[in-house]
Amino acid sequence: MSTRTRTLIRGGLVLTAADELHADVLIEDGRVAALAAHGSDTAAGWTADRILDATDRYVLPGGVDVHTHMELPFGGTFASDTFATGTRAAAWGGTTTIVDFAVQSAGRPLREGLDTWYAKADGNCAIDYAFHMILSDVNEHTLKEMDLLVEEGITSFKLFMAYPGVFYSDDGRILRAMQRSADNGGLIMMHAENGIAIDVLVEQALARGETDPRHHGEVRKSLLEAEATHRAIQLSRVAGSPLYVVHVSAQEAVAELAAARDKGLPVFGETCPQYLFLSTDNLAEPGFEGAKYVCSTPLRPKEHQAALWRGLRTNDLQVVSTDHCPFCFKGQKDLGLGDFSKIPNGLPGVEHRMDLLHQAVVDGHISRRRWIEIACATPARMFGLYPQKGTIAPGADADIVLYDPHTTQTLSAATHHMHVDYSAYEGRTVTGRVETVLSRGDVVIDHGAFTGRAGHGAFIPRSTCQYLN
Ligand code: URP
Ligand code: ZN
Ligand code: ZN
Repeated sequence: MSTRTRTLIRGGLVLTAADELHADVLIEDGRVAALAAHGSDTAAGWTADRILDATDRYVLPGGVDVHTHMELPFGGTFASDTFATGTRAAAWGGTTTIVDFAVQSAGRPLREGLDTWYAKADGNCAIDYAFHMILSDVNEHTLKEMDLLVEEGITSFKLFMAYPGVFYSDDGRILRAMQRSADNGGLIMMHAENGIAIDVLVEQALARGETDPRHHGEVRKSLLEAEATHRAIQLSRVAGSPLYVVHVSAQEAVAELAAARDKGLPVFGETCPQYLFLSTDNLAEPGFEGAKYVCSTPLRPKEHQAALWRGLRTNDLQVVSTDHCPFCFKGQKDLGLGDFSKIPNGLPGVEHRMDLLHQAVVDGHISRRRWIEIACATPARMFGLYPQKGTIAPGADADIVLYDPHTTQTLSAATHHMHVDYSAYEGRTVTGRVETVLSRGDVVIDHGAFTGRAGHGAFIPRSTCQYLN
């Protein structure tokens, strides 16, 4: 509950996916109460306990990052951000809601995995959070549990065509889960890479003595991402279910999504900042430095970036999330010294998504409204959080960012707040900076200083996908 009941944000340019308005925003009891044109009689008549001056600032909906992995167990270790550290870093970066992935341990009920994730997050989060469920084992019991989870507000399920022996599901299991979601309204999220073929290429590469991080990118071929994307689309057609493909990185996979969407199919795709701003050049950095950039799907040659940007402009890709999954360079990434296949997969990024996408606005890749659409409004709609999250409108949660679009900043591990010992964007200068952040009306970042608290963040049960409507 907000300690101040009425807050007024005055003089900023309010950006939503639909509009750009010079408007004042009145907040009451944690929610947006009203907007009125700046300087209008209505706005001039408003009184408040606290007034935030947004002159020369953008006023944005808080970012909605629908792909994070706090504390994920992977490759014999755990992602280095806890819900406490990761959500605090997210707030610093202007993200006010995350949707993290609860994990089903193989052979165990979904319920057990979900309860474990509730316990990890409860009382620790600085911002609001929700969960998807990773299905490691599709069987009669877990299929029934999917229905119960949808009723509980866990309305999306991630399946893996990669990682045989860990999270992998074969086509039959995938089809069954898709059929179930066609009935219960859940959204299937697909990690689309042909993991069986990739494992053969990994084995062959290691046998040739190709052990460096750059080989991670070489064996995880873009054609094998495209093939899996195509197969997932066909399976979803057979099942009659919508499909959301996560962390798309290959231009060939974008083409598969575009072809499906041209047929009018309910097929959606997300990409991540690392695929838009980094490349195989980073994986090939000398020594073991490339391990910092090992994630799956892998970074691609720079040439793929144009297709990703185009996909974001044409709406063949709808969402940019981070797939935040940090592992420290020392003590975690180095588990794969001498064998790239043992490098824990994942990159840190939850703090930088809003800024990097603003840089994309500055660079002319996307418009300001598209920035808000792909980072706030559509992720909220896609995962049943809209209009509580993702917009600034009467009745919405007052999750709001005052954004300075002119100041420059240099991204660095020395200054970021994520619990990880390197930055994937070390030394990169971007224009724009999060200044002040409100979560349900409470100021959690005040001119760059953290003023929130662990436990402020609440679990948000989600409705089913609203993007189809
Ligand atoms: O490399 C990645 N993406 N790590 C996190 C797990 C996943 O596949 O999303
Ligand atoms: Zn994945
Ligand atoms: Zn992920």
